Amino acid sequence: MTKKGAVAFYSVFSIFILSMNLLCKATDEDRKVYIVYMGSLPDGDPAYSPLAHHLSILHSVVQDGSPENLLVRSYKRSFNGFAARLTHQESEKIANMKEVVSVFPSRMFQRQTTRSWDFMGLTEIANRNSSQLQSDVIVALFDSGVWPESESFKDEGLGLAPKHWKGVCDGGKNFTCNNKLIGARYYTSESARDDIGHGTHTSSTVAGSAVKDVTFYGLANGTARGGVPASRLVAYKVCDPCRDHNILAAYDDAIADGVNIISISLSSDWLTLIHQDVVAIGAFHAMKKGILVSQAGGNLGPSIASVTSVAPWILTVAASNIDRLFVDKVVIGNGKTVAGDDWINMFTLNGTSFPLIYGKDAATKNCTEDDARQCKEGCLVDDLVKGKIVVCDNVTGVIGAKTAGALGSILFNPFEVNIAVIPTLASAPLKKEEDPQGNILKSEATKDPAAPTVLFFSSRGPNGILPDLVKCPNVFQPDISAPGYEILAAFPPVLPITDFPGDKRHAKYNLASGTSMACPHAAGVAAYVKAFHPDWSAAAIKSSIMTTAWPMNDTGNDISNGAFAYGSGHINPVNAINPGLVYDASEEDYIKLLCTIYDEGTVRKISGDNSTCPTAKGFVKDHNYPSMGAQVELLKPFSINFHRRVKNVGLANSTYEAKILSDSKVDIKVVPEVLSFDSLNEEKDFDVTIVGSGVRNQSQHELIVQGHR
Ligand SMILES: *[C@@H]1O[C@H](CO)[C@@H](O)[C@H](O)[C@H]1NC(C)=O
Ligand SMILES: *[C@@H]1O[C@H](CO)[C@@H](O)[C@H](O)[C@H]1NC(C)=O
Ligand SMILES: *[C@@H]1O[C@H](CO)[C@@H](O)[C@H](O)[C@H]1NC(C)=O
Ligand SMILES: *[C@@H]1O[C@H](CO)[C@@H](O)[C@H](O)[C@H]1NC(C)=O
Ligand SMILES: *[C@@H]1O[C@H](CO)[C@@H](O)[C@H](O)[C@H]1NC(C)=O
Ligand SMILES: *[C@@H]1O[C@H](CO)[C@@H](O)[C@H](O)[C@H]1NC(C)=O
Ligand SMILES: *[C@@H]1O[C@H](CO)[C@@H](O)[C@H](O)[C@H]1NC(C)=O
Ligand SMILES: *[C@@H]1O[C@H](CO)[C@@H](O)[C@H](O)[C@H]1NC(C)=O
Ligand SMILES: *[C@@H]1O[C@H](CO)[C@@H](O)[C@H](O)[C@H]1NC(C)=O
Ligand SMILES: *[C@@H]1O[C@H](CO)[C@@H](O)[C@H](O)[C@H]1NC(C)=O
Repeated sequence: MTKKGAVAFYSVFSIFILSMNLLCKATDEDRKVYIVYMGSLPDGDPAYSPLAHHLSILHSVVQDGSPENLLVRSYKRSFNGFAARLTHQESEKIANMKEVVSVFPSRMFQRQTTRSWDFMGLTEIANRNSSQLQSDVIVALFDSGVWPESESFKDEGLGLAPKHWKGVCDGGKNFTCNNKLIGARYYTSESARDDIGHGTHTSSTVAGSAVKDVTFYGLANGTARGGVPASRLVAYKVCDPCRDHNILAAYDDAIADGVNIISISLSSDWLTLIHQDVVAIGAFHAMKKGILVSQAGGNLGPSIASVTSVAPWILTVAASNIDRLFVDKVVIGNGKTVAGDDWINMFTLNGTSFPLIYGKDAATKNCTEDDARQCKEGCLVDDLVKGKIVVCDNVTGVIGAKTAGALGSILFNPFEVNIAVIPTLASAPLKKEEDPQGNILKSEATKDPAAPTVLFFSSRGPNGILPDLVKCPNVFQPDISAPGYEILAAFPPVLPITDFPGDKRHAKYNLASGTSMACPHAAGVAAYVKAFHPDWSAAAIKSSIMTTAWPMNDTGNDISNGAFAYGSGHINPVNAINPGLVYDASEEDYIKLLCTIYDEGTVRKISGDNSTCPTAKGFVKDHNYPSMGAQVELLKPFSINFHRRVKNVGLANSTYEAKILSDSKVDIKVVPEVLSFDSLNEEKDFDVTIVGSGVRNQSQHELIVQGHR
């Protein structure tokens, strides 16, 4: 009796509380994390306290309770703003305050790795020199942290951190830094230790120390090393989950900490307005301090207009393959060997021939034939598949096949271009044979003569979603392509190497693919260029990387989409340090560019200061970008003029002549055709005019205008 009464009492009581909440106070569910961006920090007011300001703003909109508990993070070192749990109404009130630049909800970012368990490759990129200069370069990774004990982060031969380093090693419990991994901070979980593997992999790719005799189950052996083995690393743990407000916090710290290059292997799976894109806003503040940000272009390809990293001051990276390709071979009964791609098989079965069975022919009664065909978990009759190799019409079928006790599985993915595993092994040849037999061989390396080609998953430009951005096609596509396929790099040895449930294998080096893997390659090259040219602006480094790229080969690649897929081409580290000329751009140039797309108010939401737009509105196409692009109307004759300014960073006395490499049906004129310089950093202007009688369809015309000394 009494017990019952007590229950009744509590339930009445809780209803009462609930209704109180509805009337007076927002419940926690009504709140989500918003970012309140307040722009640049005010100059030279020693009395100004950003934190006090942030709390006073919160106090003024939050009715009761303590706003301190709603504050998630205060940004106060490199720019001004905060993140707080707010209701929609509160966020609107704050957005109307005059000191506030913009308010937007904190979004989630995705790590741009595809299936981190089935690829392999190499990380070597360049012939290096000047380790002294390299060791002055600090690369920041905004990622899932690092595994500090990895051999790739050993600091042998490295001196103390460079003088411009102002950060700390605040990695949490049991996390130590050294002269390679000079700092760490975390904005999520309890430490900067990597608990998913992504950050360890990307960090060792960009600047891991050389580690000899690295192998992955005997498949690859050799030396694993980052692009710039002498450079320093700092881990800013913003994942998992990778949220906007954590990324902004990492920028706030990294810029003030004195890093030189920032690598972000994250991107959003949908397009955001540039003034609400924290990666773009943070990178703008970084750019002002000469810091180049390299960002993964995304894995949403091959559809056109899938790239979501769109700020012109960011180096947006696409992923391509390297000439080493690992193939799987399967022998079928008649002795025929078929090769598949994409799946690394590290085992050899004990024997030469095993019975094959198609998933559909082993269906359990409670499953549809379709589910059994795909080897869905619980849809295969154990007794029918035990001791056999099962053929499944879905790459996810491996789990169902394994749990049913199959010896192995041959996976076939009919819908994903380029990742078909054993594409020739459809169901038909199996059924024709009475007692089909086969074997799965260990994967082996082959040479891919077509490499480098851009990968199917790599996001493409141009930006077709927001009409404003379409005006700027040269900017809204990847800038460069870098290796992002079958990359072998460091991995936390405590984590299983695949995402498969039940996989208990561990390794210190693991394989991964994605624009996530391409991004740190580009960041490594940026660090390499920075080592040789410490005084170059972010735009100059970006320009040198773009203008020295290897042209990519589209032949036979029907999903390439040309420059929309890979931008200027394949990254070329050795040439990048000697571009001769650079297309430089200052903060003012970017403001001018933004002013051609947005009104002044929106421009200020990005720059965070009181920038003003020039009265004479310019043209997007004339922004001093290292590539040129314009939209033209179908079937209409056109004549487009691009204005550019180049700076001499080569020999003091040098002459450049324009050479036009193009087979297309347009006329290209460069005026003047010859540029002569007699001092370093001298700047000269030129114009490129392109005249055509009309493009027939939406295909892109690619023009390559190259400067030659
Ligand atoms: C590295 O730089 C030194 C000094 O500038 C030079 O002598 C040496 O040849 C360079 N090595 C390579 C491999 O480029
Ligand atoms: C610190 O972490 C490493 C890696 O997980 C582990 O091997 C070591 O035992 C830990 N040390 C302490 C004192 O917890
Ligand atoms: C890799 O291992 C194989 C077999 O052990 C050996 O023949 C080869 O020379 C090794 N390659 C490297 C680069 O160490
Ligand atoms: C491989 O198969 C043979 C013959 O069936 C058997 O004798 C041997 O023990 C097997 N080896 C392993 C490692 O299972
Ligand atoms: C089908 O039935 C089997 C045996 O009862 C069971 O183990 C399996 O989970 C079921 N499959 C599904 C998809 O429900
Ligand atoms: C493969 O299986 C997954 C998970 O069941 C499903 O989401 C996907 O659509 C399947 N793919 C095909 C091509 O049927
Ligand atoms: C492009 O690739 C095709 C096919 O692999 C090859 O025949 C051609 O020579 C390549 N072109 C260039 C410029 O490398
Ligand atoms: C912009 O100008 C206004 C008015 O002069 C001033 O109050 C505000 O602090 C300035 N904002 C920034 C970010 O400089
Ligand atoms: C460049 O050439 C001019 C004359 O052609 C000469 O006076 C000058 O010394 C040269 N500068 C360098 C750095 O060689
Ligand atoms: C566009 O035109 C080119 C040749 O002019 C042709 O090869 C291509 O298939 C066309 N593309 C579309 C989408 O019509």
